[in-house]
Amino acid sequence: MIEIEKITAFETIIVRHPVLRPGRPIESCHFDGDDLPTTSHFGLYFENQLAGVISAFKVQNKLFSEENQYQIRGMAVLSEFQKKGFGEQLLQYCENEIRLKSGDLIWFNARETAVGFYEKSGYEILGDQFEIPDVGPHYILFKAI
Ligand SMILES: CC(C)(COP(=O)(O)OP(=O)(O)OC[C@H]1O[C@@H](n2cnc3c(N)ncnc32)[C@H](O)[C@@H]1OP(=O)(O)O)[C@@H](O)C(=O)NCCC(=O)NCCS
Repeated sequence: MIEIEKITAFETIIVRHPVLRPGRPIESCHFDGDDLPTTSHFGLYFENQLAGVISAFKVQNKLFSEENQYQIRGMAVLSEFQKKGFGEQLLQYCENEIRLKSGDLIWFNARETAVGFYEKSGYEILGDQFEIPDVGPHYILFKAI
């Protein structure tokens, strides 16, 4: 009933757009680095419908000393599928894929409203809240893996 698999950057848009960039142009759903060979995108299908997406980018953040860091971006579950454990399953799947590539640290900019979700999976806040224009208040979260 639930399957998680690798998808293309293009396929993520169907979830990124309504969840992360509602009412904004479709181009706003494209992230720098989406098509790099070091970037991976994963989709969770519920009864063959794409319900959630997540992407892992190979990006070093100077705030951390680990040598093989990955940044998670575009974590999103369609509203009708939220709070069913799908986001957590996607996050765990993505973490495992990063481990398989010898990644040693995951970091990202998390929306303030989603911080509690990530804390449940062991992520910690680094530093103060900051604003991402047109998106809202964020924190840097990280986890050594
Ligand atoms: C945040 C999001 C990805 C979570 O996905 P989800 O499928 O709804 O989450 P899950 O059902 O897997 O939740 C796992 C646990 O986290 C909790 N949780 C989920 N969303 C939460 C939130 N926003 N704040 C605090 N806790 C949250 C759940 O209650 C659950 O806890 P439990 O195991 O004790 O019951 C999803 O709600 C979403 O797409 N939100 C809008 C976009 C967004 O904010 N994306 C993140 C950008 S940084």
